[in-house]
Amino acid sequence: MKFFIDTANLDQIREAQELGVLDGVTTNPSLMAKEGIRGRDNILKHYVDICEIVDGDVSAEVIATTFDEIVKEGEELAELHPQIVVKVPMIKEGIKAIKYFSDKGIRTNCTLVFSAGQALLAAKAGATYVSPFLGRLDDISTDGLQLIAEIRQIYDNYRFETQILAASIRHTMHVVNCAKIGADVMTGPLSSIDGLLKHPLTDSGLAKFLEDAKSFN
Ligand code: E4P
Repeated sequence: MKFFIDTANLDQIREAQELGVLDGVTTNPSLMAKEGIRGRDNILKHYVDICEIVDGDVSAEVIATTFDEIVKEGEELAELHPQIVVKVPMIKEGIKAIKYFSDKGIRTNCTLVFSAGQALLAAKAGATYVSPFLGRLDDISTDGLQLIAEIRQIYDNYRFETQILAASIRHTMHVVNCAKIGADVMTGPLSSIDGLLKHPLTDSGLAKFLEDAKSFN
């Protein structure tokens, strides 16, 4: 399972990269706005800065919603850096653009996916990644993990190469459960990765080992 971090914060990306287990980054317009990045040139530079920190794919989202504009914006993003994956919303114009990008060898991440049918369509169009939003489904009392399981089954049935990128991860158990179901990638906050480290028996066990090791001197 690949680990992506879902942030545009350079310090957090550096911290995750230093842990040595990071495979990529996802961003979205809300995450970019949260970092206070404004203006087209600054936004494009920020994507390049992220690419230079992380050794892996970096999803950069288009804000256009018509085919022509999505293609124009996506091509500009893809030209920024070889690690850029163009993130495209699950709308009709987006699906047309994903097919266009796929035919041109430009990699895509189909975002805002909330149903198995949407995921099937994204795979048919040739998306590199599909992003079902686990946490946002859980937020409205709908089983997000069940959706990921359904997409896994559909993709396995037809050997689609589109990778399931479990998005909107909120906590460590989301990560573990996505791994059990067979999601190819998860993207979440740094806390969801750091949480994997934690167990009280590890802490108490290490404290005891270090205490007993004092007798070595
Ligand atoms: C996906 O790529 C999105 O950036 C993200 O995972 C959305 O997460 P949220 O629901 O926590 O905003």
